[in-house]
Amino acid sequence: MKDQSKALAFVNDNRDRFLQELIEMLKIPSVSADRKFKDDVMRCAGFVKDKLVEAGVDKAEICETAGNPIIYGEKIVDSSSPTILVYGHYDVQPADPYELWDSPPFEPVIKDDKIIARGSADDKGQFYMHVKAFEAMAKSDSLPCNVKFMIEGEEEVGSSNLGIFVRENKEKLKSDVILISDTSMISNENPSVTTGLKGLSYLEVEVTGPNRDLHSGTYGGAVANPINVLCKMIASLKDGHNKVTIPGFYDDVVELSEEARKQLAEAPFSEEGFCKELDIAESDGEAGYSTRERQGIRPTLDVNGIWGGYTGEGAKTVLPSKAHAKISMRLVPDQSSDKITEMFTEHFKKIAPESVKVKVTPHHGGEPAVTPIDSLDFKAAEKAFEEGWGKTPIPTREGGSIPIVALFNEELKVNSILLGFGLDSDGIHSPNESYGLFNFYKGIETIILYHKHFADLKN
Ligand code: BES
Ligand code: MN
Ligand code: MN
Repeated sequence: MKDQSKALAFVNDNRDRFLQELIEMLKIPSVSADRKFKDDVMRCAGFVKDKLVEAGVDKAEICETAGNPIIYGEKIVDSSSPTILVYGHYDVQPADPYELWDSPPFEPVIKDDKIIARGSADDKGQFYMHVKAFEAMAKSDSLPCNVKFMIEGEEEVGSSNLGIFVRENKEKLKSDVILISDTSMISNENPSVTTGLKGLSYLEVEVTGPNRDLHSGTYGGAVANPINVLCKMIASLKDGHNKVTIPGFYDDVVELSEEARKQLAEAPFSEEGFCKELDIAESDGEAGYSTRERQGIRPTLDVNGIWGGYTGEGAKTVLPSKAHAKISMRLVPDQSSDKITEMFTEHFKKIAPESVKVKVTPHHGGEPAVTPIDSLDFKAAEKAFEEGWGKTPIPTREGGSIPIVALFNEELKVNSILLGFGLDSDGIHSPNESYGLFNFYKGIETIILYHKHFADLKN
């Protein structure tokens, strides 16, 4: 077994530099959803490539796609050693609304032992742990595995070009396991490894009433108001038990056995703490399931945005012509994103009254993914946590989605191990996103231990 003490010592000697580099990257507003940041996205791609080279890869390239480039890098130490493929994303969510940030989102600050910036936890701070773990091993001559990197710039907008890249580069991406740090843990006291991610079906609906905006006194009550209609339609998508009413919605859902549910329930969770952190009097969701189950193993439907009519200052008496909403459904095995999108579309059109026209436009989607926990790949994660944290990590299932994981399973036939070190309180996608310095450094250490145990178990 390789001795990783030199690599760990290297991390210790370079802590400040590692953090300064991450701060440099966080200053680049690589927002993929908004074209106006295109130059910054390209600049960030260059930054990632340079850092891979400095860290010691044999080869690094910026792979152009129809969208944002993918950075590929590799170091093959020995063709007979196992290969770890690292996946991450350098694009970030929009930082809006800016006024809700206590400090500007792209001017990172360290406060209470956390680094605050857009992308600090999702996913720059997390994928960068792999770059630094790799550097520590490469520079202390203790790389037990071959390492490949694939860092993309379109995760937050659906990864559609990465899907093409993966299908076209199967040989290049050949590996024994995929490591991804883009999820969270229960807490620093209760480290966990994510074993399930949800799928996603995301669409936009438009309801049109009269052909133009009207005086709400002259016409109000005499023609259908599309906003009122849309609200009624949306409300009908769930029944009194918070079950989704779309016919067939639950048909393909794999119900967990009582035993599996019991196992999940063993993970520490405080309902009171959950409510307190969010400042809500009580949680809410599908009847018959716990909060953790609603989050991890049950499909959901939510409105993500709704608009129409007059929303400016003061009052304008208007009966709008159109109303819109963005709706997401989070899916679990074996639901299919395309099938659910189709079901939704058909149902939504069917429940619309004659007085309005309805248009449904699908956005991106993705399939759910579950990692088997009886594999060597997962065992290595358990061993890395046992050595680094003195605790066996708790397997958990999360409500977020990384659609490319299901595609990795299908196309590359390799397991993805979700070695995420974030916390729910990091506030990813929210104002004041943060990432704990403890998590950053402990993550680097755990990744180094993963490489060691993976090589050990594979040989
Ligand atoms: N890192 C997240 C996914 C995530 C979040 C996993 C929390 C587990 C816990 C990822 O960057 C993300 O935001 N994914 C999107 C989906 C994508 C298609 C836009 C999501 O889950 O909304
Ligand atoms: Mn992410
Ligand atoms: Mn994200």
